[in-house]
Amino acid sequence: MNSRDNSTPLQGRRILLGVSGGIAAYKSAELCRLLVKAGAELRVVMTDAALEFIRPLTFQALSGHPVASSLFDGNSDDAMEHIDLARWAELILIAPATADLLAKLAEGHADNLLLSTVLATRSPLAVAPAMNQQMWAAAATRESLLRLQHRGVLIWGPEAGEQACGDTGEGRMCEPADLLDDVRRHFEPGPLQGRRLLLTAGPTREAIDPVRFLSNRSSGKMGYALAEAARDAGAEVVLVSGPVCLPAPAGVTRIDAVSAEDMRRAVLEQLPETDIFIAAAAVADYRPAQPADQKIKKSADRLNLELIRTPDILAEVAGLAERPFCVGFAAETRDLEHYARGKLERKRLDMIAANRVDGEQGAFDNDDNELAVIWADGSIELPRQPKTRIARELIAIIADQFSRRPNDD
Ligand code: CTP
Repeated sequence: MNSRDNSTPLQGRRILLGVSGGIAAYKSAELCRLLVKAGAELRVVMTDAALEFIRPLTFQALSGHPVASSLFDGNSDDAMEHIDLARWAELILIAPATADLLAKLAEGHADNLLLSTVLATRSPLAVAPAMNQQMWAAAATRESLLRLQHRGVLIWGPEAGEQACGDTGEGRMCEPADLLDDVRRHFEPGPLQGRRLLLTAGPTREAIDPVRFLSNRSSGKMGYALAEAARDAGAEVVLVSGPVCLPAPAGVTRIDAVSAEDMRRAVLEQLPETDIFIAAAAVADYRPAQPADQKIKKSADRLNLELIRTPDILAEVAGLAERPFCVGFAAETRDLEHYARGKLERKRLDMIAANRVDGEQGAFDNDDNELAVIWADGSIELPRQPKTRIARELIAIIADQFSRRPNDD
C-alpha cells in the first residue's frame, strides 16, 4: 500500500507554506526552494504584512504556482479557496511566524486567508517563530505558545543569535536547511514506529501528614522532553508523571501519580505490551513509615521522622522475566561514570543516562542538560544543550540500541 521511497520522504508531499510579515520572510524563499528541490509540492499563502517584505512573484517562481494572500482578492474566483487549501495540505508550515500571528493562531482568529486555512485544516501545523528577543520572551507570547503547544502545534525554533534589530538573543528564525530537516523528520517513519514506550517523569511526593510531604527538585522537564521526542520518533507513548507544572504533550497518554507506590502501581498496570521502559522520574528513595492521619502540631522541640524504603520501580521492572528494554537515569553529585555503571549492573539495565545534579549547571529544574549514556559495551557523551534537543539524541540512541538487542522481532 505504502510505496513511498523513504530515502526521499518529501517526494510528492503537499506542503502549504504560510509566510507572515517579518524580516525573516526573505529566508522563506530559500526554504521554498529547498522544499521544492526535495520533491515537495508547494503552495504559498502570504499575509498582507508579508507582502510588505517580499514580493509574491518570488514564491510564484520558486513554487511554480500562483501565491494566494487575500480571502477576497479579485484574482481568485474561488470563494472556498481556504477550504480547498486546508484539505489539500498534508502539512501547513508557517515560516516566519510573527508574534502577532502566533497570538492570532492561539486565539483562533480567521481574518485572513492564512489564518482561516489553518482553522479549516485537519492536517498538522508547524510554526517557525521569528521575532525580537524581547517579544519572544514576553508573557503574552509565552502564553500563546503554550496554548499552541497544548493543541499539538509543532514549534520549530527559534534560534538564538544576532537579530535584524541589532539585539542578541532568542527569536531568530531557524535556518532554511534546519527547517527542511524538521519537515523531513516530520514525514519520515520514525525509528520507534509501532513501538510502545512507557516512561516515568518528575518527582514523587511522600506524605508526612495530610498537608506535608517529602519530595525533591525534579521539574520533569527531561522526562517530558523524552516523551515528546519518543512520540516524534513514532512511538505510542505512555507517561506516568509525578506532580509537575508541565502540560501533557499532545498525543501522549499521561497518567498522574503522586507517591512512589502510586507510580509503581501505574507502571505495572501499563507494562503489558511495552517495548521500552525509561525511568526518568526522581522517585523518592524513602517515605515516612507512618504518615500521620491528622496534621502534626508543633509541640515537642524535636521531631523524629522514621523513614522506610520505597519500592524501586526500575529494578522491579528490569527484574521481570518478560521485560522491556530498560533505561534508567543516574542523578549523581560525584563519580558520575563509576556510580552509573554500578547502577547499570546492579539494576540489570540495558542502558543508563547519567547526569550531574549539583551546582548551577546541575540538571534539576534547568532547561539544559548534559548526559553520559552508558550501556554494557559502549558509551556516548552528549554535550550540554537544551533538554528538548538532548532528548531527541537520547531517543535516537535508545532506538538504535533497541534495534540491536539480540531478541529483536
Ligand atoms: N528509580 C526507581 N524507583 C526508585 C528509585 C529510583 O524507578 N524507588 C529509578 C530512577 O527513575 C532512575 C534510577 O532508578 O532511573 C536511578 O535512581 P537513583 O535515585 O539515581 O539511584 P538509586 O539506585 O536510588 O541510588 P542512590 O540513591 O544511592 O544514588
